[in-house]
Amino acid sequence: MTCYAAQVNYLHAFHAGNFADLVKHAALLRLMAALTAKGPPLTVIDTHAGRGLYNLVGPEARKSGEAEAGIVRLMQAKDAPAEFAPLIEVVSGLNAGGAVQRYPGSPWLIAEAIRTADRYIACELRPDEHEALRGVLRGRQNVRTLCKDGYATAVVECPRDGRVLVLIDPPFEQPDDYERIVETLVSLRRRNRTAQALVWLPIKDLETLDSFLRDLEDEVAAPMLVAECRMKPLADPMKMNGCALVLMDGPDLAEPFAAIGGWVAQALGAGGDGRAYALTPQ
Ligand SMILES: C[S@@+](CC[C@H](N)C(=O)[O-])C[C@H]1O[C@@H](n2cnc3c(N)ncnc32)[C@H](O)[C@@H]1O
Repeated sequence: MTCYAAQVNYLHAFHAGNFADLVKHAALLRLMAALTAKGPPLTVIDTHAGRGLYNLVGPEARKSGEAEAGIVRLMQAKDAPAEFAPLIEVVSGLNAGGAVQRYPGSPWLIAEAIRTADRYIACELRPDEHEALRGVLRGRQNVRTLCKDGYATAVVECPRDGRVLVLIDPPFEQPDDYERIVETLVSLRRRNRTAQALVWLPIKDLETLDSFLRDLEDEVAAPMLVAECRMKPLADPMKMNGCALVLMDGPDLAEPFAAIGGWVAQALGAGGDGRAYALTPQ
């Protein structure tokens, strides 16, 4: 499949280390710890990988100020729950314990978390971001990067047997992202009936989230955990008012995921809160 740079305008460098990354990455590390604590080899497929490592003193991060309101505040916080300790440790290590200038993306976190028998496949559609990703992950064992569409590639690369976790973290620039997530989850489960997935979603207005969750309940025959982090009242549907995670057929992480979303919403938001609840497939 060809890489079409023009298809993607989104650049995660503007958003790296923001509140939504903290929720996603703290939850991802908690999940990776559970999945790699024991058990047979695990394949991790990252459908929308990004560049792997972000410069927080570059023009994009400076312009948005999102990391200042996110990871910089987490690193200074005295009351963050234990669920953030693994992320804080990685960020401290990347910055030699000093000011936060570098922030890890999902590829860095996953590549650090896998065991020697596990595999990691990272998909990134933008050629420039993919090139950077290749450099960041160069020399790692059992790691492949692909400059391909992540939705289609996840299904093709999903092993038919054995343990697989798929991380789906699109920029939601395309109108069909929600539909493609549902299709991808359905196809993954057809290919491997034990496939697990972690999906990141923005919360702008409630109906968009609710209709996506209804589609999941109708079409994906697997247990789901939903964790919401609402940063503020959903008064303006044009703004990102929070974010949510959906964990398909994962271990029971309701408590840690609620703690992660709750702290981010209360400490970094404006009158927000977090919660986690199960969806029941039809
Ligand atoms: C939200 S960012 C990913 C952040 C990354 N998962 C992390 O946590 O560090 C989304 C990325 O997906 C890429 N992208 C957009 N559409 C894609 C597609 N169909 N397949 C693969 N990558 C895509 C964008 O270029 C962007 O780098």
